[in-house]
Amino acid sequence: MIQVPRGTQDILPGESYKWQYIEKKLHEIAKNYNYEEIRTPMFESTDLFVRAVGGSTDIVNKEMYTFLDKGDRSLTLRPEGTAPVVRSYIENKMQHNVEQPVKLFYVAPMFRYERKQKGRYRQFVQFGVEAIGVEDPLIDVEILSMLMHIYQSFGLKNLKLVINSIGDMESRNEYNKALVEHFSPRIGEFCSDCQSRIHTNPMRILDCKKDRDHELVKNAPRMYDYLNDESKNYFETVKAKLDDLNIAYAVDYNLVRGLDYYTHTAFELMSNADGFGAITTLCGGGRYNGLLEMMDGPDKTGIGFALSIERLILALEAEGIDIPNEKGLDLYVCTMTDEARDLAGTLLHKLRNRGISADMDYENRKLKAQMKDADRKNARYTIVLGEDEIQNQSADLKNMQTGETKKLSFEEMISTMEEI
Ligand code: HAM
Repeated sequence: MIQVPRGTQDILPGESYKWQYIEKKLHEIAKNYNYEEIRTPMFESTDLFVRAVGGSTDIVNKEMYTFLDKGDRSLTLRPEGTAPVVRSYIENKMQHNVEQPVKLFYVAPMFRYERKQKGRYRQFVQFGVEAIGVEDPLIDVEILSMLMHIYQSFGLKNLKLVINSIGDMESRNEYNKALVEHFSPRIGEFCSDCQSRIHTNPMRILDCKKDRDHELVKNAPRMYDYLNDESKNYFETVKAKLDDLNIAYAVDYNLVRGLDYYTHTAFELMSNADGFGAITTLCGGGRYNGLLEMMDGPDKTGIGFALSIERLILALEAEGIDIPNEKGLDLYVCTMTDEARDLAGTLLHKLRNRGISADMDYENRKLKAQMKDADRKNARYTIVLGEDEIQNQSADLKNMQTGETKKLSFEEMISTMEEI
């Protein structure tokens, strides 16, 4: 039997209402903050991710779904959304848009060849936002407040926002030098990944799962001490504005993120809920000031975040929060005879064309079973069609909540249902 590929899942009808509910809410919140949807292709040139995400990252080194197409082009299923959105901003010359920053959001599947684990999939759906074109701490704060607003609006409580500043390029280079000096003498004690990271991206050593307890990681130089005045001021302003808005956060000087494009503000949102599992990061993001220029674009900066709907659902489950199931039918038509079934078909056709959701039994079940089915389908109204009803061309419309019935001709019934 052929099975769903490892690390992917079917979202079945009993689950899909959750996705619809969440996506609808995310669209609404994005609108409140004046972000507009952007849709980019599912695959891009491999170079895009190598350059933007970084050749030394796990995403590029280990996790990309890369293939040659029939024209021998190297393409990659997108592992994340920022690089494609930035590519589109540059390609479509959005720096000339009257309104800056250009505020964009996406809800789209991403692909990473990762080890399967609870909360970690090879195909997952990210909701992400990017504000590109202006550098201003107010925008960093807007992004963070939107992020908290999203999770709180679903009723989640066990949340921990962690922030750090990676500083500008100058600060980052100074810090990397300090890390090389710090780790080099004893790099032989570290894993093979870290031994190459020291040459390509020393900051990533701080984030290594294998070596996180090494004393040199614990007493590594702090990024904050290498921030130049401008970077420090930027970070302090962001923090002060978060305080003004009463947005709670913790500073983690070791937060480095797994993608190379970050500068200044970087952040992650974690779940503290019991039973959430080992992977507690719900969302991550940050500012990327050098990225556009690095991709031969204009001298513009951006900031954004992305969350996966899969982990949002896990967090809701861990906190015991139910997602309302708004499924339901306006009308269920029960039938007693073959002739009644034919009539029901015609009636349903008319009802549905007028925008009324309606269904019937297709399995020739007994009336009792049909009523049960109507119940299961959450039907607000029912009618029963038998010989009498066909003869009189009318039926009793029953309100399933109050039990009230009303005798109506079929035409009257359609217009009554329309009014309701
Ligand atoms: P990221 O931290 O790689 O950042 O991913 C963001 C979020 O995507 C994670 O916090 C997590 O919720 C979800 N996620 C990542 N990998 C998986 C997976 N294998 N299974 C399920 N969920 C996953 C980015 O992707 C950046 N583009 C975020 C960003 C936007 N930065 C600036 N703008």
